[in-house]
Amino acid sequence: MADKPTKGLADVVAASTALSDIDGKAGRLFYRGYDIHDLAGRTTFEEIAHLLQRGKLPTHDQLAEYGAELARGRSLGGLAENNVAEIAEKQAPMAALRTLVSLSAADDPDKNSNAADANRRKAARLTAQQPILVAHYHAARTGAEIPEPDPELGIAANFLLQITGRRPSPRETEIFDACLVLHADHTMNASTFAARVCAATLSDMHSAIVAAIGTLKGPLHGGANEQVMRTLEALDPSGVAQAVRDKLAAGEKIMGFGHRVYKTEDPRATHLRRMSRELGEASGDDTYYRMSKEMEEVVFAEKGLYPNVDFYAATVYHYLGIPTDLFTPVFSVSRMSGWTAHVIEQHADNRLIRPDSEYIGERDQKWIPIDER
Ligand code: ACO
Repeated sequence: MADKPTKGLADVVAASTALSDIDGKAGRLFYRGYDIHDLAGRTTFEEIAHLLQRGKLPTHDQLAEYGAELARGRSLGGLAENNVAEIAEKQAPMAALRTLVSLSAADDPDKNSNAADANRRKAARLTAQQPILVAHYHAARTGAEIPEPDPELGIAANFLLQITGRRPSPRETEIFDACLVLHADHTMNASTFAARVCAATLSDMHSAIVAAIGTLKGPLHGGANEQVMRTLEALDPSGVAQAVRDKLAAGEKIMGFGHRVYKTEDPRATHLRRMSRELGEASGDDTYYRMSKEMEEVVFAEKGLYPNVDFYAATVYHYLGIPTDLFTPVFSVSRMSGWTAHVIEQHADNRLIRPDSEYIGERDQKWIPIDER
């Protein structure tokens, strides 16, 4: 008989990984041994994607080569392109991305291979493609013309350009790049685990990514950043503290707070809080930042909970001009680098992931013919 399960697999070590590591007590996060505090604001998202997918922070030459590979991968694929308008009409952003990534698999030249070099190429293509899918989805529903990506700009700046229609300032680019760096990987989070479970059946990378996108979509995971903004928008700025206390007293969860692993401040939230404040002040109206600060104080005083990555990411994206329902897609743009690296890692040393379960149903039932039931 199986042991008692740990609800939600809390504290269960489900895989070995060399990609990222969390010290939940100290509130620290590392990508391949590099402290996130040393990376955010100092490296580009492309460098981090290279670190995760190819094992090392790139040299200038390696980055140029990887950048060229990403540039070649900036395409939707015919099937996705032909269907994006109808998908945009019928599906909300994360559901649309789940479908679009699945469609794009049909046009991937390596679709039938799980070989290491094929996975490496697919990882780069998926990373290059995800921001383009979001931009095309958004353009299809707004009817706006999408600016061509500027070859001089990286993924962060091109994404902001294509979503807002405006060339971001160097500081906006730096901040958004840091956001992408901060979201790139996070050990055995739910969507990464889903990707690894799928990959471990020796299914293909696109299937694993579709599983991950569907998992990120939920409000207990990546979907929380959108819900944070919806909460802020619904609150009266002069009644934040009382409204939050009332929600907590009613047993409601406050989106953007709490974490399975961190027992102290999420190190990503430290950066995002600072960036939210800076952008709020620069915009001339930092109301949402100030409301967020007040929410943070009340939730901590009432429940001892800290903000997670999604809490201040919401106002940062808002100040950058990103529509609220694209906040979770932005998460997927970044996490694509981590998901794909985990699929590569899983395939490199694979064993089927197949846990046990505890049976809690009835036993020794007597079968009765259908006419006598
Ligand atoms: N607001 C209010 N209470 C909370 C919150 C919250 N955000 N988070 C946890 N709690 C309370 C729970 O109600 C529970 O209280 P109880 O023991 O009195 O029933 C206790 O803290 C433990 O919470 P669980 O949900 O059991 O903790 P778990 O580790 O399973 O969940 C999670 C972690 C999902 C992140 C949870 O904190 C949550 O739902 N937060 C809100 C959603 C969110 O922000 N998700 C994004 C997480 S980060 C990411 O995925 C990118």
